[in-house]
Amino acid sequence: MSLSTADTQPSAEQTINATSKANDAARLPGARTHYSDFFSDIVKRMKPSPIHSLLHLEHHIPKPISLLAGKPNPAMFPFAGSMSWTSRDPHNPEKIETLTMDEDLLKLGLNYSETPGLLQMRQFLEEMQEDEHGRLKEEEGWRVTVGPGSQDLISKAVTALLNPGDSMLVESPTYAGIMPMFRQLQPEFICIPSDAHGLLTDKLREVLKGWPSDKPRPKLIYTIPYGSNPSGFSATLERRTELLKLAYEHNFLILEDDPYYNLYYGSSPRYPSYFSLEKSLGLLDTAPDTPKDLLRVNTGGRVIRFDSFSKVLSAGLRLGFVTGPAPVLDAIDKQTSAASLEPSTLTQTIALTILRSWGREGYKAHTTNVAAFYRSKRDTCERLLAQYLGKDGLATWDTPEAGMFMWFKLHLHPGMDVESDTEDFIRRKAVEKGVLALPGSMFLPEGGKSAYVRLSFSVVPENVLEEAMRRLRALVIEARGEA
Ligand SMILES: Cc1ncc(COP(=O)(O)O)c(C=O)c1O
Repeated sequence: MSLSTADTQPSAEQTINATSKANDAARLPGARTHYSDFFSDIVKRMKPSPIHSLLHLEHHIPKPISLLAGKPNPAMFPFAGSMSWTSRDPHNPEKIETLTMDEDLLKLGLNYSETPGLLQMRQFLEEMQEDEHGRLKEEEGWRVTVGPGSQDLISKAVTALLNPGDSMLVESPTYAGIMPMFRQLQPEFICIPSDAHGLLTDKLREVLKGWPSDKPRPKLIYTIPYGSNPSGFSATLERRTELLKLAYEHNFLILEDDPYYNLYYGSSPRYPSYFSLEKSLGLLDTAPDTPKDLLRVNTGGRVIRFDSFSKVLSAGLRLGFVTGPAPVLDAIDKQTSAASLEPSTLTQTIALTILRSWGREGYKAHTTNVAAFYRSKRDTCERLLAQYLGKDGLATWDTPEAGMFMWFKLHLHPGMDVESDTEDFIRRKAVEKGVLALPGSMFLPEGGKSAYVRLSFSVVPENVLEEAMRRLRALVIEARGEA
């Protein structure tokens, strides 16, 4: 780029041409064309924001004189100096320390930044992802985009990929909160059941094998690999490996929604993420055997990974990030720049202040504390569940090893072989007795009956949870006609 402040300024057109050439050089060959077959008509029609797509030029060295964006002057904001708050030391949570966002960072935080997120934040996150998942950003063609929570990014990713009528694979049961958004795109849901070990990959293989030859194949699968919402279950290494192999064999993308990754509290070591396994299994390097040479080596891969700070830093910060192939993230960014320009810069600088002050080691210590906290909550919940509903066979469950949910099957009819439906029981009877939980049917993408109940054990104190269990027990006994 020839935007030296010492030189005469080039014309805007020259600058834009120089930049797009620099971008093309940085982009790995063919990446965009490899993914373009996946994109929805909506996103193909969208153009990048004419102003925001140029803002990255401001980071060039030597620094150009930027007269680009209509950024308000921070001198006119009612904030002066720095911003401080108290925080717990992750190595010693009893110790309260003061964290300060310095004047320069605060100034950045108070203004517009860039659609994919503040550069400094992205750099921190990209390095973190490289370490955590054993991936190399530059060589492999992926990057990170920050968003106002992971759900926003998931909805934009799916919008970038699906046209009405396209087939989408979805693990069942699944996160009810995301379903209205998926439905709005009018895909055909192909539900793949799961059990305590994750998605049933044998079933998925059957579905894919029997796929009609004249029907467009599914473009993606949506899965929650750790502490799934609602079931609390985590996918085993074997199931993860199988799913990845199927994705490469049948050419679909994996949307790895992993907000509970850091809430893993199982006794054995944590399984690698899909994003990590894709590399360690050597799949990124496999010769292309898919039609049109799609998605071969060095295009970023088939996994789009969603992380969230909601469960570990604060849900109110509204910060999540997506890691994945650059062309797919560009398609997400196009939607953000058209809708909200960018995620909140101020909450990014708050998070960045915390993360820089802790370092990655401190962040690890913090997430270890978080996981231990939820493990103890899980233990209390399971003990009470066993005491009030388990002991007489009123409920059965598998123990979750991550997350904040207990997913249990209620036996509303004496005799284990009669399937119950918890819809009326939870929505009406439990509500009348002052207990709020969610019936399993709510988490079935295609609807239907479910004998399951999801309860969240994250915030209720033990004595309150015990009272809830006592009330549920009385209700189940009454429903079974055993009162
Ligand atoms: C599975 C799942 N995905 C996404 C989200 C949304 O996370 P965020 O707050 O980062 O948008 C949630 C929130 O509960 C969730 O359970």
